Amino acid sequence: MTQQCSVVGAGYVGLSTAAMLVEFGFDVQLIEIDEERVDLLNSGRLPIREPGLADAFARGRAQDRLRCVPPSRASLEPTLAFACVGTPMWHTGDADLSQLESVVDMFHTNTSRTIMVIKSTVPPSTNRMLSDRYPSLRFVSNPEFLRQGSAVRDTLNPDRVILGSNDAEAMATVRKIYQPLADQGIPIIETSPESAELIKYSANALLGIKVAFINEVADLCEAVGADVDDVAAGIGLDPRIGNQFLKAGPGFGGSCFPKDTAALVSSAKRLGSPVTIVDAAARANIRRRASLAHRVVNLVGRQYSDATVGVLGLTFKAGTDDLRESPAVDLTNELADHGVTVTAFDPAVETHPEGVDSRVRVAPDELSVAMGADAVVVATEWGQFSDLDWTKIAESMRGRIVVDYRNIVDRDKVVAAGLELHQVGKPPATPSDPG
Ligand code: UDX
Repeated sequence: MTQQCSVVGAGYVGLSTAAMLVEFGFDVQLIEIDEERVDLLNSGRLPIREPGLADAFARGRAQDRLRCVPPSRASLEPTLAFACVGTPMWHTGDADLSQLESVVDMFHTNTSRTIMVIKSTVPPSTNRMLSDRYPSLRFVSNPEFLRQGSAVRDTLNPDRVILGSNDAEAMATVRKIYQPLADQGIPIIETSPESAELIKYSANALLGIKVAFINEVADLCEAVGADVDDVAAGIGLDPRIGNQFLKAGPGFGGSCFPKDTAALVSSAKRLGSPVTIVDAAARANIRRRASLAHRVVNLVGRQYSDATVGVLGLTFKAGTDDLRESPAVDLTNELADHGVTVTAFDPAVETHPEGVDSRVRVAPDELSVAMGADAVVVATEWGQFSDLDWTKIAESMRGRIVVDYRNIVDRDKVVAAGLELHQVGKPPATPSDPG
């Protein structure tokens, strides 16, 4: 008989987990509180853009092994439930566990002995706190490491699977689910819940530290006339350092890094064991994101209210349509707040998105963004921005400034078009000095 399970939360983690479980042969009930999202999914459409997700869902639906329901219509019979709900950030930096608590409440009041697999990112000791509070349920921490833009691939081919529980039987049941991945040689680490929870936070914190670090090195490069991409390449060849997450840019964003670093800082402080290095990285990142607009206007050399700026990219990184905690949105809103006329284009954004200042005009293409602009700013690393026709862009612009916060544009082409290029952690390039 096909084994049944529930996945709660139809966001990036829940949708990818559901896709994985269908792939592993489960019959999946996807429980989602937002009824509009339920209807959308049941009509065969997806609320997010992720490669491979549409195919996985189409297969699940065609085999009648995947359906989406609101909590009021959920069956509480499956004794296996994956909690994939959000753990957003309170203003204190702490993780808000209310969504997770209501999921646990739902299963606690209706069935017993359900294994709750916690995929949501939660602070250390959450598993223990829930196990104490809900003795009828069994908890296994199983943090998710997927990246947006490759969520399905990352879920089906993770670097590792982490399982943390004090309940050996529940751990063994969940371990069995991951056998197909173990068979492919993917390491499965079985540990305590606290260690599992800390593995997730430490991984994201260390990656955030790497990004914050290289961004400060980029500032130093600008001060001494060095090139941060060369520095990153030079240090990244040391295998103890590794070459990933050393791309200097506008600062880290997205739904995970800012929130997880803040939550780790806050929990560690409460536990009397502060993580000062993570704290410093998080603060450096906030400062960096807050400085993006000011730097552009300084370069333009006009008052804010006289300046016109075109922004290329709004999403927090390329390959996703997610604007949460996006440095590009910070930049755009900050400019608009100061009275700058701003036009923005993003290939993943069609209508004026929520969270982007209403005074910002969202344009249909790159050339419309350049029209009359004093400066054009590359804020997201979409591939198409690395291959623009800078001569046409220069003809449309009023000013000469290009700011590339992602270091992706072709330096020679920008300068050949008569424009002045400012990248991150590199000496500026001007038409008379193609450098
Ligand atoms: C991240 C983690 O990678 C993933 O394991 C975790 O589960 C969720 O958080 P994601 O938020 O999708 O995934 O984005 P990621 O690709 O990791 O990038 C995070 C941020 O760091 C982005 O704003 C990105 O632009 C920035 N970044 C990343 C850099 O500025 N430089 C880099 O070298 C790498």
